[in-house]
Amino acid sequence: MDDLKSKYLGLIAEATDENSLEELRVQALGKKGEISLQMRSLGQMTPEERQTAGPALNALKDEINSGLIAKKAALADAALDERLRTEWLDVTLPARMRPKGTIHPISQVTDEVTAIFADMGFSVAEGPQIESDWYNFDALNIPGHHPARAEMDTFYTHRAAGDNRPPHVLRTHTSPVQIRALEANGAPIRIICPGRVYRADYDQTHTPMFHQVEGLAIDTDISMANLKWCLEEFVKAFFEVDNVELRFRASHFPFTEPSAEVDIRCSWEGGVLKVGEGDDWLEILGSGMVHPKVLQAAGVDPSIYQGFAFGVGIDRIAMLKYGIPDLRAFFDSDLRWLRHYGFRSLDVPTLDSGLSA
Ligand code: DAH
Repeated sequence: MDDLKSKYLGLIAEATDENSLEELRVQALGKKGEISLQMRSLGQMTPEERQTAGPALNALKDEINSGLIAKKAALADAALDERLRTEWLDVTLPARMRPKGTIHPISQVTDEVTAIFADMGFSVAEGPQIESDWYNFDALNIPGHHPARAEMDTFYTHRAAGDNRPPHVLRTHTSPVQIRALEANGAPIRIICPGRVYRADYDQTHTPMFHQVEGLAIDTDISMANLKWCLEEFVKAFFEVDNVELRFRASHFPFTEPSAEVDIRCSWEGGVLKVGEGDDWLEILGSGMVHPKVLQAAGVDPSIYQGFAFGVGIDRIAMLKYGIPDLRAFFDSDLRWLRHYGFRSLDVPTLDSGLSA
């Protein structure tokens, strides 16, 4: 009996899974098990023999049974421990955020320009993209016979046969918003007007739809000096450099007098644009003092009020700042391009936290 005991307790200790435990149980305590056969042999014993052998066999049977139960529980505990170890998950880790989309460079640059001019006290004004001939041209001192109309490659809408009113146009610039904002709010005023504009033109640097931002500041005491300071502040903040040099080149626009095109000093060394150094000049915008006829057309008295206006190509300054070579790609909706040039959606440009950082 001692041999049986040490044999089975040993085998139970060595068992590594539930199946082998079950096999051991059958082998020892099953109908034809070793212990069961011993129990059956009790019948052939003398009463005296039976008195000692009976309780001893029962005790052995109990001992093997509890050995099996204990081992089964131990195996289950070990299996659970192993599972907890391999399926471990740190639920305190921060959620991993992977926004799929990006902010288009045009939207990014519009936000950057807005942040810069908001800091100088300008608010944002908007106007329609389908504009009347009057707002787009006449009110801006571009009468019907003016060559600027032909130069602008304007898209005209269709009028029904017999309707002799001038057709509407897809606005060719953001300047008409100057008139609309003055009509709505009067002077003094300080606004910028970002938005889409349209011209029939298409090559590496022209698309039929592009973006401009117009600036307008009207008050009783505004001069070219204010224009120059504002533009310098703007260029420094936008290109994120401490020093810039602007060159005001005499020019002509029907809606400003005097008019100036503004260039910034730059270098193109190694094909990379650096603003504020070098021997090259880069034209970035048109500007001037608002023509008295334009103020008049908007219902503002030019003998009291005067001010400056400017117009910048948003796509153009986006290409310059972010080194984007082809304008047409802006509007191709090519996901690879958008992922490469797009901006993280949660980085809102502000002057204090950095425009593009
Ligand atoms: N409207 C002009 C254009 O589209 C740009 C422009 C030039 C706007 C001078 C202005 C300005 O406000 O003063 O080419």
